Amino acid sequence: MSRPPGVDRAHERADELGFPLSCEDVAGALLATLAAAVPRGGRILELGTGAGVGLAWIVSGLGERTDVEVHSVDLDTDLLGTIRRVGWPAHVQLHEGDGAHLVATLGRFDLLFADAPGGKLSGLEATIAALAPSGVLLVDDMDLDQHADPELRRALQGVRDTLVQHPQLVSTELAAGSGLILCARSGAG
Ligand SMILES: C[S@@+](CC[C@H](N)C(=O)[O-])C[C@H]1O[C@@H](n2cnc3c(N)ncnc32)[C@H](O)[C@@H]1O
Repeated sequence: MSRPPGVDRAHERADELGFPLSCEDVAGALLATLAAAVPRGGRILELGTGAGVGLAWIVSGLGERTDVEVHSVDLDTDLLGTIRRVGWPAHVQLHEGDGAHLVATLGRFDLLFADAPGGKLSGLEATIAALAPSGVLLVDDMDLDQHADPELRRALQGVRDTLVQHPQLVSTELAAGSGLILCARSGAG
């Protein structure tokens, strides 16, 4: 799988920053594909900006489109300050704060990438509530075998159970990369 140039640059930035938590290519490529499918005038939210690798995949999937709002949230002031200086397209907005709280304040989204503890390990219901009808939620780092900490494993198991059992979601577990769960919210509302 070849990486778009913007994603290459984001990985170089992550290396320079010593940031080890960027999404893997399989998750990124899936994000780019899902971003391309967002309806006209749609909205995308990433919880956990990191070094901007996931965001670069989303931007690459949108290509020349400028009709889609892209929002990304991170708690880390210094990291976000660095990422703000990257030349993102005008339809990208970065927000500083706890994803678990901010997710309930930013409106509803057609595509949501939950890649931070806030909005995933805590505040998951608010994240699900932020999905527009027919909205899609991607959650990564869900392969329990890749995590040794028993507390984290228990928390991830809880996230997994909530997603696969949720009455408003249709969820699929994908054994790829760090373990992905892809969910679609029922179009009924
Ligand atoms: C796994 S990394 C994100 C990687 C990024 N999504 C990517 O695809 O390259 C998780 C990020 O979440 C941020 N974070 C941690 N706790 C958070 C919270 N409660 N709310 C928002 N961001 C948080 C961290 O600062 C870190 O940058």
